[in-house]
Amino acid sequence: MKKNRTARSRVPGALALWAAALALAAAAPARAEQPKLKVGLMLPYTGTYAALGNAITNGFKLAVAERGGRLGGREIEYFSVDDESDPAKATENASKLIKRDQVDVLVGTVHSGVALAMAKVARETNTLLIVANAGAGDLTGPLCAPNLFRTSFTNWQPGYAMGKVAAEQKKKTAVTFTWKYAAGEESVNGFKEAFEAGGGKVVKQLYVPFPQVEFQSYLTEIAALKPDLVYVFFAGGGAVKFVKDYAGAGLKASIPLYGAGFLTDGTLEAQGDAAQGVITTLHYADGLDNPKDKAFRAGYQNAYKAEADVYAMQGYDSAQLLAAGLDGVKGDTSKRAQLFAAMEKARIDSPRGPMTLSKAHNPVNDIYLRRVEGKQNKVIGIAAKALADPARGCKL
Ligand code: BEZ
Repeated sequence: MKKNRTARSRVPGALALWAAALALAAAAPARAEQPKLKVGLMLPYTGTYAALGNAITNGFKLAVAERGGRLGGREIEYFSVDDESDPAKATENASKLIKRDQVDVLVGTVHSGVALAMAKVARETNTLLIVANAGAGDLTGPLCAPNLFRTSFTNWQPGYAMGKVAAEQKKKTAVTFTWKYAAGEESVNGFKEAFEAGGGKVVKQLYVPFPQVEFQSYLTEIAALKPDLVYVFFAGGGAVKFVKDYAGAGLKASIPLYGAGFLTDGTLEAQGDAAQGVITTLHYADGLDNPKDKAFRAGYQNAYKAEADVYAMQGYDSAQLLAAGLDGVKGDTSKRAQLFAAMEKARIDSPRGPMTLSKAHNPVNDIYLRRVEGKQNKVIGIAAKALADPARGCKL
């Protein structure tokens, strides 16, 4: 009896302590450390797009480091996978990050085919996906979704802008040449759309399988066709090889080489003289006279002992966009609607100049006209002001 009484008499005290602990815990969340935010980087770290994947990673980490290693108050933990720019491995790679590593947000990738597979996984699992490069139109077209954002471009944007410029220059005929996959096809089709609307004619569209770089027979065909200009989409290692081969074949002097800016961005060191005078369109350029770009370039140079390029800038802006969203919900990613709303209305102070997102979550920004001079993609004009992708098929 005594034992029981003693036990009973202790209960109220224990309960009171427990209740006090609970009350403390309830009052504490504002001060408690939130769990780390897991960021899954799915990018190419090998193959023709390896340099692009590394630059995106560096840019993203730079923006996080500038915020003390935290976004929305939460410390960042990285998980990464080399996607090898291989669409066949993309679903498995994205699933690893989402299911095994339980990432809160997926950031990637470079290759459009890989990104399309990532988007399907992200949609099925309702994972936030920030596309830091791949320009596949479908991502912000028929596949657009509340949890899918892009900080780069659609392949259509630089292509369309260049077609418009070429038509304004009164060029009459063009040949297009690219890798046969979504990015190349959409880029040259964007060029054709604007060029032909402006009175030009694309007399031939040439394709080579991705990521092949045996260009010789195509260059022979281009020489025989003698168009007023050639418009191409190549990037990374393939772009270096193409620009050198084009000059080596003696075509540079007779048929002007135009391209989406990936042809000469991040590649000039390796292309050397062969790239001089090449004309491109892109949402970024060297020597932009804005304070954000100057600070970004200096920070990047200081951190990585390398020049920033368009890919580094897109990685940087991916973290800036994520920061805007997380700040809007104080790091609480369970507030999905508010998180996405904060990202949608973000006005990003980007090194490229001001950037906003369209309803389909794709950047709206100026597309610069650039010419290679020395080691720079110098701005020589604005090819298209605040150009928005038409987002055909997006139902947001
Ligand atoms: C793409 O696959 O969408 C892409 C790859 C490299 C540069 C630009 C676009």
